[in-house]
Amino acid sequence: MHKRSIELLNKAIADELTAIHQYMYFHFHCDDQGYDLLANLFKKTAIAEMIHVERCAERILFLKGDVEMVTSADIKKIQDVSKMLGMSAKMEEESAREYNVWANECSQNADAVSKQLFESLVLDEETHFDQFDTELENLKKFGERYLVLQSIERSKGRDSGPVD
Ligand SMILES: [Fe+2]
Ligand SMILES: [Fe+2]
Repeated sequence: MHKRSIELLNKAIADELTAIHQYMYFHFHCDDQGYDLLANLFKKTAIAEMIHVERCAERILFLKGDVEMVTSADIKKIQDVSKMLGMSAKMEEESAREYNVWANECSQNADAVSKQLFESLVLDEETHFDQFDTELENLKKFGERYLVLQSIERSKGRDSGPVD
């Protein structure tokens, strides 16, 4: 039943798993450099993508298929923050584009539920795109100061403990 939908849902899972790995890598490096706001954004987005995997997997199993837990690409070892944000925005844009196409394909194959699933993923990916794009704009607007401020905020947090 709905062999093509199962195929598309597995393709989505492969892209989502790649995004999870990539965003976790970015999270580790932002956290290491003291950029808490961005570290948290990457972590939060990776968790959102994990929920996307779960939703696709549930649909695949309902359609009596099986879940192929493979990634679609290796992660890129980017440590420059502006490049991280640029790559992430591009990944989100591409996912939204693909899911739109796949929603239409599922609709043509009379699989309304998979169509709706892809449509709701488009909405989430567009939100993720917007968040990464906004941070990229901030970074362009405020330059290094934007990152320095995040590091200072972390130091302030550490400072607030009792003096002994
Ligand atoms: Fe996703
Ligand atoms: Fe996303």
